[in-house]
Amino acid sequence: MDKIIIEGGVPLSGSVKIQGSKNSALPILFATILTEDRCTIHNVPELSDVRTTEALLRSLGMSCERNDAGSFSVETTDPSCTLADYELVKKMRASFLSIGPLLARRGKAKVSIPGGCVFGANGRPVDLHLMGLEALGARIKVAKGYVEAEASRLIGNTLDLSGPNGSTVTGTANILMAATLAKGETKIRNAAMEPEIIDLAMLLNNMGAEIEGAGTDELRIQGVDALHGTEHVVMPDRIEAGTYLIAGAITRGNVTVDGIMPKQLEKLTTSLEQAGIILDIGEDHIHVSTNGSIRPVDISTRAYPGFPTDLQAPMTALLTQAKGTSQISENVYKDRFNHVPELNRLGAVIHQEDGHATIDAPNELSGAKIMASDLRAGASLVLAGLAATGTTTIDRIYHVDRGYERIEKKLAKLGARITRKVGEETGEEEGAPYPTRTPTHQA
Ligand code: EPU
Repeated sequence: MDKIIIEGGVPLSGSVKIQGSKNSALPILFATILTEDRCTIHNVPELSDVRTTEALLRSLGMSCERNDAGSFSVETTDPSCTLADYELVKKMRASFLSIGPLLARRGKAKVSIPGGCVFGANGRPVDLHLMGLEALGARIKVAKGYVEAEASRLIGNTLDLSGPNGSTVTGTANILMAATLAKGETKIRNAAMEPEIIDLAMLLNNMGAEIEGAGTDELRIQGVDALHGTEHVVMPDRIEAGTYLIAGAITRGNVTVDGIMPKQLEKLTTSLEQAGIILDIGEDHIHVSTNGSIRPVDISTRAYPGFPTDLQAPMTALLTQAKGTSQISENVYKDRFNHVPELNRLGAVIHQEDGHATIDAPNELSGAKIMASDLRAGASLVLAGLAATGTTTIDRIYHVDRGYERIEKKLAKLGARITRKVGEETGEEEGAPYPTRTPTHQA
């Protein structure tokens, strides 16, 4: 397994171009199952989660060609494939996005219960996905780690996707994709409002779907008989963008984060400004600098347009450098604090309990050997390593590679002293099996 080694303490400077959005590209690639025509998707990031998606699509009878410019052409070669196997699905929770399109286009799907990032003992359930598909008339059975779903044709319905912590992003994407080919109208109440849902709806409408309301909490979909091929450019990755803004701030650097949609980052930029970080916000870029001092701020994560849970760990790293105590409330995933013990190993003083963390800062971070245990926790360790004195070695960097394209190259270009040590094969699985709440849909 690869490691990243950082000699910290260098203020970053320069400009960084942001990749296409991971969380947009994944559902969009799965949406190509909805047609037998060729779809060409541009600005697809070079990430291990995209490679997992590609392998899964191939196993589902799709041909995938990628060119060096990040464009993917996807076309159905064998529409009889309906099995998303455990070996691939366990690597990435977003594999569950295959169930909606398979069911809608091919009439059935057998998809392993997903793996991917695990945030604590409660895992990440898929009950809302299943409830939504059942509402569209699917017959669902959960047995031996697989969800089996069947429907000769889905039928439009009104359904509500609100769960205990708000809506569900990939659940909304799954039901939205399925509803495009259902008979009649579907209304999704309490739909996720994330920009990635807007991007997916744009692709689907370009394929011939009839979707209104994307970006609001109610989606209305008139089902159509068939979708056709199209071309689409994936939107920029707002979480990668936020991570590089924090990298500029935590190193007291001077960084321009380019090729982004600043409006999508409003909650982060407001919090950064409250922390005294100096931002110059343009049409498609943000320049970040500091006057050297960082103030404490309190952060409370929520579904979009709230503060993104995916930037909670990176922001926690930054706030170890603030002059005073900051409070973090994690409202989307109460257990998403895998970064805390590792940040504390670097000298942070963070107390965490029951969905909350208190950062008793300022903390002088100094290099140590630490370990990434999920994607955004890993990113926060990289950020802390950039701010720490001495050498930080971060193990299990494959977690970070799931969501950040060439992170060490991009940071090195900004002046960071960062290298990757390529590890030997260990035979260990990259992607832990993932506990799920007992489904209420057991046959
Ligand atoms: N939930 C349920 N039941 C469900 C689904 C979700 O109770 O059936 C709960 C979850 O436990 C959580 C909340 O609803 O408390 C929100 O989860 P959601 O379903 O929205 O998460 P997701 O769709 O699985 C996506 C992103 C995550 C991001 C979350 C929240 C993708 C591929 N993944 O996950 O991204 O953290 O939304 O914004 O879009 C990441 O990129 O690092 C990442 C984990």
